[in-house]
Amino acid sequence: MHTEHRQRFLEVLRERRAAAVIPTATHKVRNHDCEYRFRPDSDFWYLTGFDEPDAVLVLVPALATTKSQGPRTILYLREKDREREIWTGRRLGVAAAPAALAVDEARPIEKLWDDLPQLLKNVERIVWRTGPDEARDREMLHVISKLRASAKGPVVPPLELLDPAPLLHELRLMKSPAEIEVMRRAARITKEAHIQAMRRAQPDLNEREIDALVEAIFRSQGGTGCAYTNIVAGGANACILHYVENNQALRDGDLLLIDAGCEFDYYASDVTRTFPVNGRFSAEQRALYDVVLDAQLAAVAHVKPGVTFNSVHELALQRLVAGLVKLGLLEGPVETALEKETYKRFYMHRTSHWLGLDVHDCGAYVIDGSSRALEAGMVLTVEPGLYVAADDETVEARWRGIGIRIEDDVLVTATGHDVLTAGIPKHVDEVEAACQGRALQSVHG
Ligand code: GLY
Ligand code: MN
Ligand code: MN
Repeated sequence: MHTEHRQRFLEVLRERRAAAVIPTATHKVRNHDCEYRFRPDSDFWYLTGFDEPDAVLVLVPALATTKSQGPRTILYLREKDREREIWTGRRLGVAAAPAALAVDEARPIEKLWDDLPQLLKNVERIVWRTGPDEARDREMLHVISKLRASAKGPVVPPLELLDPAPLLHELRLMKSPAEIEVMRRAARITKEAHIQAMRRAQPDLNEREIDALVEAIFRSQGGTGCAYTNIVAGGANACILHYVENNQALRDGDLLLIDAGCEFDYYASDVTRTFPVNGRFSAEQRALYDVVLDAQLAAVAHVKPGVTFNSVHELALQRLVAGLVKLGLLEGPVETALEKETYKRFYMHRTSHWLGLDVHDCGAYVIDGSSRALEAGMVLTVEPGLYVAADDETVEARWRGIGIRIEDDVLVTATGHDVLTAGIPKHVDEVEAACQGRALQSVHG
């Protein structure tokens, strides 16, 4: 899969007469001398499938003006070091890397900056992301200065630095069958975790117990972890969109919103379900839940090639606002509420984002000023919600403090769509059955 990604990216580079220099992440300190668990950079992982820190991939396509034999893929990485490996873990090492990762060549990471002027001397552009590491940016400018100083006659130094976004990130947006298979595995584990959470939750448990249960299922079933920090939000905590404290007692009569997705081979899933802590929706919870569900089902059904990304949001929004007006929470008519954006106190976020190696994945949303049309191979979330603040005096007290979101991961296919996270209970009867530990034969198609 990673070799194929490299081949496709090399083809793009050849057309642009560009080389690419793609570093991975480094260890990040959590506190004092403890580090976070390492997670590779997504661009680097996409192109290599290599998850050690301190490595850089250099891709140089064969250009007509050079005598090079073909495209060159060179991986710079840490050398084997018996002493260091005893302390900090195994290393692949330079000698084993070409066979293990199917790169043309491997070199010690210490040689990178000295080698680059020679490797980049025939290209017109360099794909390099500026910003994440200023020291590395200075090294790259130094390389370009050297190239400029040594350019003579027909040899021109690289004239442009290109951001990976319009090149590599457009490739990442279109998922291959192999990538979709990995995303299905992430989705299957996420399904299991949400069903177990529905079964396990009950009054007086703490949010953190459900948080831990969900993460345990992700990791014990082979996931690389949580794709993002779990949100386990009981009652009005669900109205805080990025609530991650996950440390309050669950209360009888409240809903529990869980936004949690397994990461598998560094590919994300991203799922939200909202269910009653005691297993039964109240009348108000159910009324609002059905509005969100109606919007979510309509928006998912709308996904197919050719419709715009933004139209998914517009449709969900229209259904949410119609539901709020019908329940008397929002003054109508629907068109006026949409125009005046009076719904924003109940629905303040967008409905979708791309999904892939990053939970908010790369790829442009707008092309030439217009919302982009969906294409087969894209994966997006569909995640409408409604959030009534605990202190919202514009609505009757019985509605206050209810927060609901329903989120699935949707693959665009040639003829329509495929919900990767299908089968996680979301209709009221299925959810209540799952809370009681029963699986309901779905009657909802
Ligand atoms: N969990 C992040 C999101 O839903 O976008
Ligand atoms: Mn989410
Ligand atoms: Mn999401």
